[in-house]
Amino acid sequence: MNGRLNVNFVGCSLIIFILIIYVNIFYECGKKVIYYNVRKRISINDDWRFFKYPSREKADSLVYDLFQFMYKSKKDEIDVAKLAGFKNFNSFQFILKPWVTPTGNEFIKDSSRHYKRPKDNPSSNFPFVLLDYDDSNWEIVDLPHDWAINGPFFTGPNPEVGGSMGRLPSPGVGWYRKKIFIPESDSGKCIFLEIDGAMSYTIVWVNGNVAGGWPYGYASWYLDITKYIKWGDENLIAIRLDNPPNSSRWYPGGGIYRNVWLTKTNPVHVSHWGTFVVTPEVSRDFANVRIEVCIQNDSNREADVYVKTDIHYFDPLRKIVREKVASFKPIEMKILPGSREKIESSTIVEKPKLWGPPPEQYPHQYIAVTTLWEGSKIIDKFETPFGIRHIRFDPDSGIFVNGELVKIKGVNLHHDLGPLGTAFNLRAAERQLEILREMGCNAIRTAHNPPAPELLELTDRLGFLVIDEIFDCWEIGKTTYDFHLIFPEWYEQDLRAFIRRDRNHPSVIIWSIGNEVGEQYTGESGVEIAKRLYRIVKEEDPSRPVTCAMNWAKPYVPLPAVMDVIGLNYQGEGIRQDPEFEGTDKIRTPPQYEPFHKQFPEKVILSTETAASLSSRSVYLFPVTNKVSDFVRDGRGGDSKIRHVNAYELYAADFGASPDKVFASIDRHPFVAGQFVWSGWDYLGEPTPYYESRSSYFGIIDLAGFKKDRFYLYQSKWRPDYPMAHILPHWNWPDRIGKITPVHVFTSGDEAELFLNGKSLGRKKKGRFEYRLRWDSVRYEPGELKVVTYKDGRKWAEDIVRTTGEPYRLIAKADRNKIKADGKDLAFITVRIADEEGYTVPDANNKVNFHIEGPGEIVATANGDPTDFTPFPSKSRKAFNGLVLCIVKSKKGIPGRIKVVAESEGLKKAKVIIEIKN
Ligand code: GAL
Repeated sequence: MNGRLNVNFVGCSLIIFILIIYVNIFYECGKKVIYYNVRKRISINDDWRFFKYPSREKADSLVYDLFQFMYKSKKDEIDVAKLAGFKNFNSFQFILKPWVTPTGNEFIKDSSRHYKRPKDNPSSNFPFVLLDYDDSNWEIVDLPHDWAINGPFFTGPNPEVGGSMGRLPSPGVGWYRKKIFIPESDSGKCIFLEIDGAMSYTIVWVNGNVAGGWPYGYASWYLDITKYIKWGDENLIAIRLDNPPNSSRWYPGGGIYRNVWLTKTNPVHVSHWGTFVVTPEVSRDFANVRIEVCIQNDSNREADVYVKTDIHYFDPLRKIVREKVASFKPIEMKILPGSREKIESSTIVEKPKLWGPPPEQYPHQYIAVTTLWEGSKIIDKFETPFGIRHIRFDPDSGIFVNGELVKIKGVNLHHDLGPLGTAFNLRAAERQLEILREMGCNAIRTAHNPPAPELLELTDRLGFLVIDEIFDCWEIGKTTYDFHLIFPEWYEQDLRAFIRRDRNHPSVIIWSIGNEVGEQYTGESGVEIAKRLYRIVKEEDPSRPVTCAMNWAKPYVPLPAVMDVIGLNYQGEGIRQDPEFEGTDKIRTPPQYEPFHKQFPEKVILSTETAASLSSRSVYLFPVTNKVSDFVRDGRGGDSKIRHVNAYELYAADFGASPDKVFASIDRHPFVAGQFVWSGWDYLGEPTPYYESRSSYFGIIDLAGFKKDRFYLYQSKWRPDYPMAHILPHWNWPDRIGKITPVHVFTSGDEAELFLNGKSLGRKKKGRFEYRLRWDSVRYEPGELKVVTYKDGRKWAEDIVRTTGEPYRLIAKADRNKIKADGKDLAFITVRIADEEGYTVPDANNKVNFHIEGPGEIVATANGDPTDFTPFPSKSRKAFNGLVLCIVKSKKGIPGRIKVVAESEGLKKAKVIIEIKN
C-alpha cells in the first residue's frame, strides 16, 4: 500500500484539478493513479418548473407547522385538502415538521435530542410531488430565482406588503419541480442535494417522499437523498416554499434564490463542510497550519482509509491550484460503518504569502486538497480554500492584521442586489464590492443573516474583512412571523451549520450572533440565551471572537459582558441627545464609547452600525441646516410630498448621525476599532422616513449603483492619499437666482478655494474634527463653480460643476464591454441625460426606452429613486436626476455581439456594444 501512496500525483506544478473525473487512469509524474469515481458537484440551477399560488388562501396545506395555519381559516384548509384529493382529512397529517426537523440532526450536539423521522410518508399522493404530474403550464425558470422581484409593487395606503418589506409580493406559497436523470452507474453512490438558500420554510420531496427541509431562509443546508433515488431513471425533486407575511424588517425576497447543487460521492467520503483549517501561529517566516478533517462512512462495511492533505498556493480568480507548498502527515484509519471520524494534523508553511486587506496588504490564498484512498483507489478529493493570516484584537487601538493596524472602514450590506432582487448573481455582488472598494471601504457586515456562500468567496478574493452575522432576533421577535417562531427549535442547527460553512474563509474575522436583539432588555434570561449561542460558536470555531450588535445594552447590563468584541449600534455617537427628544419614549443614550471602554478595558469596541444617514441622490432641498448633523422633518431636510431627503448629506434617522458627526466621534476615541456604516448600498424595503416608498434612503450608493454625494465624503476620509475633490450641489437652479445656496466640498485635501464664475469665494481650511468645507452663504448665479483643493499647502485636486443646458442627447456607457457567455454574466449600462456639450443634466427625468439586439437580454432597469414603482424588468424607465441604468445578461453558450440602444423622445439616442465571449 505504501508504495502506491508515495505516488505524488500532484507533484508536478500547475495542475488544474478537475473534480468531475470518473474511473479514469492518469499518468502523472510517470506513475499510475486510479481515480475511483471521486466526488462530482453538479449545478442543477437550470430548467426548473415553477408555480406560485395566486394567494395564500388558495394554497395547499402542506405546511411546516401549525403557526402557518394562522394564515387562513380551518374551513379553507378542509376545502383545499379535498380539492387536492386527500381523503380522510385530518389537519395534522399536513404538518410536515416531523419530516423536516431530522434534516438538522447533524447539527444538534446532544444526540438524545435528535429528531426521528416518522415511518409513514404523508402527502405522497399530492399531485405536485409525483413524477408524472403535468407541469407543462408552469413557468420555466433558472435558479437562483427571486419570485417577487418582477413585482408589481403594492402601492396605496393598505398594501398587502408594505414599505418595510419592499412592497413586492415576496410572501406566499410556491413550488419548484425538476426531473433529474441519475444513471445506473451511480448506484452505490451517495447523492446529496445542496441548497445554498431558499426563502423560506423549504420542504423537499424526492420521488414522492418527503426527504426533509429547512425553515430559515438564509441558511445553507443539504439533504442526503440517496435512499429515494431511482438509479438509471428520471427522479423528481419537488420543493415547496412558504414565505410568511410580516416575516422581515426588509425585503426578504422569495423562492430558491441561491445556487442548488447535486453532489455525488462514494459512501466513504469527506463530510459536508467537513474540514476546518486554522493558522494558530503566523509570521513572515513560517505559518503553523492546522487542519481537521471529518470522514464519513455511509456504507455498511468497515473502511480502511488513508488520508492525505496537501497545501497549494491558490489563484481564486482563475480557480487555479498552483504549486504545492506543504503537506500534512498522512493518516491511516479505520471507520466503522455508519460513523464519522475526525482527524487533526498540523504542518508548517515556510515563508507564507499572507492574506490581508488591500491597499497595504494582498489577499493571498491557499487551498488544502484532501485525498482519501481506500487501497489503491482514490475515493474522494476535497478542496478547502483558506488564507494564512493573523488577527490580533487590541482594546486600545483596534484590529491588527498580520501585525498592521487596520482601522475598520466598513459598511453594512443587506442581501438583495437592488433591481435584481435577492437572486444571487456573482457579478452583481462583485460590482457592489468594487464600488465600495473605490470608496476606500475595507470591511462588510452581513446584515443580519448568513450571506450567499459566494459573497464570502468574493470578500476572500478582494480582501474585505467580514463580520459574519446570523440572526436579527432570538426568542423575542421583531415582526409577527420572523425567526423567533422557530428560534427555540432551530437556533443550534442554524448556528452550527453557519459556522461550519463559513469558518475557512480568511475574510471572516468576527462572528455576530445577533443584531439589536430584544434580549438586550431581559437581563439574565437574555444572557442565558447569549451564553448558549456563544458556547456553540466556540465549540465550532474557537479561533474567532464573538460579538452581537447592541443599540441599547449599556456597560452595566449583563449582555455585553458575554461578548468578546463590543459591537455598538449608534451608541458611540449617542442616540437622540438633542433636546427635542426629551420626554419621548424612544431610546435616548449619551455617547457610550468611554463608558464601555472603562467597563471593558480588555475588549475591542467596534461600531457595528453608524450613521443611518438619509438622502436621495442629487435631490437638494432648501434651507440647509447649519448644524453638522440633523434629523429629517418636512421643511428640514425632508419633503414628505415628494418623499425625498436632502442630499447635502447632513441628515440622518432620529437615532443616527451624519457621517461628519460619526467621523468626529471615532477620531476622538482612537481606541475604537472602526465602524460599519448603515448602509453601504440602498436596499429594498425599510424606506425610512417615507414608508410609502419601496426602498431605502440609507445607502451611500443608491439602488442602481449610482454614487450619492456621501460616497465622496467617505472617500475623502477613507482614502486620504487619493487626490480627490467633490462639489455639491449641482448648479442648475433657475428659481434660486440671488438666493442663498450653500456649496459644500468633500476632499481628501485639507484646504480649498471656491470660485464662482472665476471669482473667489474664499479659501477655507478644515478644522480639527471637520470633514467638509462649507460656503454656506453663496448666492446662486448660473455658471461655473470650481474648487481647487490643497494638502499640506500643495495643490491637490479640483472639481468643477456647471450650469448645464437643456437635455439634448443620451450618453451610454457599460461597466464592462466584454462579458462571458455563461447566461449569468452582466453588463451594467449607465445612461446619462446630457446637454449638447455632454454634461449630465442633473435634474433631468426623461423617460428612456431600451432595446437590445444579439445574444443577451435586458433583465432590469433602475434609476435609484426609492419612489419609482415601475417594475424592475421594465425596458422603459424615467431617469432620476440625470441617470438611468440598464442591466443586460448574456445567454448561455451563445457568444457574439450585443447592441443596446437607449432612446428618449426628443433626444439623440445612444448605443453600446458588448462582446459576449465563451
Ligand atoms: C438599525 C438596524 C438595521 C436598520 C437600521 C436603520 O437599528 O439594526 O437593521 O434597521 O437601524 O433603520
